[in-house]
Amino acid sequence: MSNKDIVILGGTGFVGRHLIARLCGDGHRVTVLSRNADAHYARYLPPGAQRVTADVHDGAALAHAFAGADAVINLVGILNEQGHSGQGFRRAHSELSYLVVSACREAGVKRLLQMSALNAGRGQSHYLHTRGEAETVVKASHLDWTIFQPSVIFGADDGLLTRFRELLRFAPVLPLARAEAKFAPVYINDVVEAFVRALDNPATIRQVYELYGPEVITLKKLVRRIAQVMGWRRLVLPLPDALGWVQAIIAEWLPGKPFSRDNFRSLGTDSVGGIDGLHRLGITPTPLSVRMQALLGRADSRQKRLNRYRRQLQ
Ligand SMILES: NC(=O)c1ccc[n+]([C@@H]2O[C@H](COP(=O)([O-])OP(=O)(O)OC[C@H]3O[C@@H](n4cnc5c(N)ncnc54)[C@H](OP(=O)(O)O)[C@@H]3O)[C@@H](O)[C@H]2O)c1
Repeated sequence: MSNKDIVILGGTGFVGRHLIARLCGDGHRVTVLSRNADAHYARYLPPGAQRVTADVHDGAALAHAFAGADAVINLVGILNEQGHSGQGFRRAHSELSYLVVSACREAGVKRLLQMSALNAGRGQSHYLHTRGEAETVVKASHLDWTIFQPSVIFGADDGLLTRFRELLRFAPVLPLARAEAKFAPVYINDVVEAFVRALDNPATIRQVYELYGPEVITLKKLVRRIAQVMGWRRLVLPLPDALGWVQAIIAEWLPGKPFSRDNFRSLGTDSVGGIDGLHRLGITPTPLSVRMQALLGRADSRQKRLNRYRRQLQ
């Protein structure tokens, strides 16, 4: 395996942090383009990665940043937009992918790893629709592309286990929209392994890999299991769709927009796969149940330390 110069977009988030740690550990030289490389969340990148502030929606800036790279990895993705027209999703997914493809061509970079999502192009949500548009752009390019379509990803500091654990911590009763929606959660280390293997394997060029775990679970069961693992007695209350829709409308007005009508629509399509991409890549998927206790315990002790620190400050 040769050491490569890799440019990553959208690398300051959950997946990026894990992937970059691995790539740097493997000896690759990684440059992370961020809209604000000095933001607090961007500072948590592992040592070895170079952070660069760039307007990733500017084609010329992208081409400049890609010059000399061996591969580009596009991890940019959003679950929520400002407004409701879908334009925010189009800009972050399809339009940005078009700019990335054009910039790769201009800079002479052939290899592109593109993060997408299971069910891209299906269902009723702007999220999934624009994911599909982005894939179409990438597939139409003459680049050596590989597309990854994960179900929901779990791992240290994820937005799944950690998020629901925090909701459950303070809510004795949790009303849940789309409680019967199904997922096949995939472990972050397996997702990272898929990217790493693809990077060096020409057989993965022009291939799409669904990335999903071995356990299919409904949202309701997942949330109940988190409460169980934490040892909390909680009532998880499935909402009928009409009430779930109202919950989504209300949540859109809350800070950080924790849930939205577009999320509600996305959950209408089960996030379970059909063709096992991890298996195709020779990776044995990690079951959620094997890691859950350790991940929740780890996150909880982190939270306890934070609470202790806050108390000391008072
Ligand atoms: N986590 C999951 O369960 C999951 C499941 C399926 C697919 N995915 C996909 O995997 C990718 C990474 O997920 P993640 O959980 O790491 O996401 P994340 O933590 O939200 O990070 C995504 C990154 O995208 C960049 N970004 C956000 N909005 C942007 C915009 N409007 N324009 C340009 N860049 C923007 C941000 O980088 P800067 O702010 O530094 O620019 C951010 O660090 C995403 O494409 C996501 O949709 C994730």
